[in-house]
Amino acid sequence: MIPFVDLKAQYASIKHEVDAAIQGVLESCQFTLGGEVAAFEQEFAAYCQSKHGIGVNTGTSALHLALLAANVGPGDEVITVPFTFVATAAAIHYTGAKPVFVDIDPKSFNMDPGAIESAITTRTKAIIPVHLYGQPADMDPILQVAKKRGLIVIEDACQAHGAQYKGRRAGSLGDMGCFSFYPGKNLGAYGEGGMVVTGNAEYARTIRMLRDWGAEKKYQHVLKGYNYRLEGLQGAVLRVKLRHLEAWTEARRAAAARYDRLFADSGVGTPMAMPHVRHVYHIYAVRTPERQKWQDALQARGIQTGIHYPIPVHLLPAYADLGYKAGQFPHSERAAAEVLSLPMFPELTAEQSQMVCRAVKELAAESSVHAGGKLKASAKR
Ligand SMILES: Cc1ncc(COP(=O)(O)O)c(C=O)c1O
Repeated sequence: MIPFVDLKAQYASIKHEVDAAIQGVLESCQFTLGGEVAAFEQEFAAYCQSKHGIGVNTGTSALHLALLAANVGPGDEVITVPFTFVATAAAIHYTGAKPVFVDIDPKSFNMDPGAIESAITTRTKAIIPVHLYGQPADMDPILQVAKKRGLIVIEDACQAHGAQYKGRRAGSLGDMGCFSFYPGKNLGAYGEGGMVVTGNAEYARTIRMLRDWGAEKKYQHVLKGYNYRLEGLQGAVLRVKLRHLEAWTEARRAAAARYDRLFADSGVGTPMAMPHVRHVYHIYAVRTPERQKWQDALQARGIQTGIHYPIPVHLLPAYADLGYKAGQFPHSERAAAEVLSLPMFPELTAEQSQMVCRAVKELAAESSVHAGGKLKASAKR
């Protein structure tokens, strides 16, 4: 059995440190916010090459509060991609604003910067590029359009802890960066968690208030806020795990390079790392038009896979009211139909990788068509 992620293996490797950190919180009884959360905020913001970090209860809340700090509300539009987890669009919806989608670039799976201008209207307030699978979106042209048109850029970096674009960390490139610490993420809590990082002191101050009932001081509610506080136990666990994140990220990158090597010249459509990025491989997705067959066959051999994500947001029933139709975002729709995420976690062994690759290559040999076969792994990592 090869799991899709192996949180048990990770816990076994850091058990002593994590257990001690949890014990510390139990003794201090600082269960919500508190010293561990404050220290983690500083440490994670520094890791992201950003000035301020505000811990919240989920990545979705991070996006929601970043949008509110940018003054996004009813009547506004926010441009993002449909090939993402539903939370990106949900956070826009929470503010009363409308998500407006642009298609992805099929090579990187990220926002196509060339599609942004034509989606801008007088109501557009912000752009949310998503660093999908752990690879930063092409931020320079996105930031250029935003600057020219006076728009705020909020990075959805929920899958991109430690990723880099031209030597700069994901989350520090736009006006604000939002992270999720959902357990399966590259930096995962033992429960839920999220953070906004920003270089802007005013945004930071507003988000800090909004996450804790809009209070400047206890019971002094200056804004209509939320209960989006990060728990003390999560702060303590995340501090321990942050110390290992670089080693884990390098292990993921090595596992991805191993997959690339094993798949070379097999016709399997492997992911492409774009120039100038440090891809952190939250997900390693191959492409096949015969996805269901592959997934079932791998499952039968004890190899777990995932699909991120099978339906682009514009075609989800929950967002039918936005009025989009099938065919409007062909690259997103095709990616959603073809991607298959292979087991990917830092502890993945060479033997496990070889077993996965052998099985996938056999399936590829059986398949008559290999969509995405053009997508060769880039040497630049
Ligand atoms: C791209 C993306 N955006 C937003 C989120 C929302 O994060 P959370 O699950 O912590 O609310 C996630 C993770 O689930 C995600 O992958």
